[in-house]
Amino acid sequence: MRTKKKILLIICGGIAAYKSLDLIRLLLRKKYEVKTILTKSGKKFITPLSLTTLTKDKPYQNLFGANDNSKIDHISLSRWADMILVLPTTANFMSKLNKGMCNDLASTVILASNKDIFLVPAMNVRMWIHPATQKNYKDLIGYGYKFIGPENGEMACGEYGKGKMSSPRQIFAVIQNYFRNKNKFKEKKIKVLITAGPTREYIDSVRFISNESSGKQGYELAKCFKKLGIDTTLILGPTSLDVEDEIKTKNVISADQMLDVVKKSLPVDIAICVAAVSDFKPLKFQNGKIKNSKTLKNLKLEKNPDILEYLGKTNKNRPKIVVGFSAETQNIDKNSEEKLRNKNCDMIISNDVSKKNFGFNSDFNKISIIDSNGKKLKFNKNKKNYLAYVIAREILNKFLSDDKSLN
Ligand code: C5P
Repeated sequence: MRTKKKILLIICGGIAAYKSLDLIRLLLRKKYEVKTILTKSGKKFITPLSLTTLTKDKPYQNLFGANDNSKIDHISLSRWADMILVLPTTANFMSKLNKGMCNDLASTVILASNKDIFLVPAMNVRMWIHPATQKNYKDLIGYGYKFIGPENGEMACGEYGKGKMSSPRQIFAVIQNYFRNKNKFKEKKIKVLITAGPTREYIDSVRFISNESSGKQGYELAKCFKKLGIDTTLILGPTSLDVEDEIKTKNVISADQMLDVVKKSLPVDIAICVAAVSDFKPLKFQNGKIKNSKTLKNLKLEKNPDILEYLGKTNKNRPKIVVGFSAETQNIDKNSEEKLRNKNCDMIISNDVSKKNFGFNSDFNKISIIDSNGKKLKFNKNKKNYLAYVIAREILNKFLSDDKSLN
């Protein structure tokens, strides 16, 4: 590893807190930098002195009264870290995070963070399987938190079941893998292009043809790839999204513009067409507002270019992996598979837009991932940011298995 990676370890109040000391030793041995936050109840299980002795740095404990008075701890700590790990994550802490509470340093750092946050739950089996905890678990995944464990096994309370914290070695392996993949993508300079949002096809200066696409699913995907350290370009139609500055975005209006910018952005390794491109555009654009409604009645349309098909079939700079989306209301998989073949894609994500409460213009989606080699994965309705993570993982797995030089 070239640069020292920085881990911010948040230690909550559970008996498994003592294992954090073993994890810290593993991390320090591999030259990670570690800072710690010890919650009030975490202090009941391990002492600040143990953490200071190991990390050579005092654990941070208070929201007010910073360790270094010149800095605001909850901001500087979350910016300092390359990864935040909560170990053990108690049922209470999961509940707090789900509510977005920030009444201590640990929860405030997390709410203020722009980094990947890994939660490592540890609790009694009954607490883990309680519907309230399970709801928190699902919601937190939806918010983009990543989980390590819990495992099945014998617990400190003597009961047996799911809820046991993953071992320091298991957690360490996840951390190593996370940074190894990030480095691998960075070193290989993988480039990803994503189209998202609707397009607008102007009839005159004030009227246009468009659709309900919000651009959310494509934007969530762009955030996922960016977080993995991958060079990502988002080519975005008109939406009301408040896109983070960190995401390289090229804004477009029409399908023709989108295709033009896509062509100019090649070569890339992976292209993902999430945009709901308007299928048709007016044959003629008229400057000003058309007064005569008869002209609108005689509106003639022509087909727009198919950007996905262009990328799938082009001989010039075809991306190694071309992924399409397929919004369908019926015969979802069959129609999507046809699209996959017709447009020469490597993978297609079919999404069900038959219901109002997910799909278009919603935070939720219901998808299947269909690979050109026949592999098919179906997912229940879930948040778009969680599904983005699942889709990104599948795309990268395919890319890695096709690119032998990366293995
Ligand atoms: O054929 P259909 O429009 O259902 O295909 C959807 C897929 O094709 C999506 O991935 C969408 O981004 C892409 N598409 C495109 N250009 C078009 C129409 C669709 O890139 N003109």
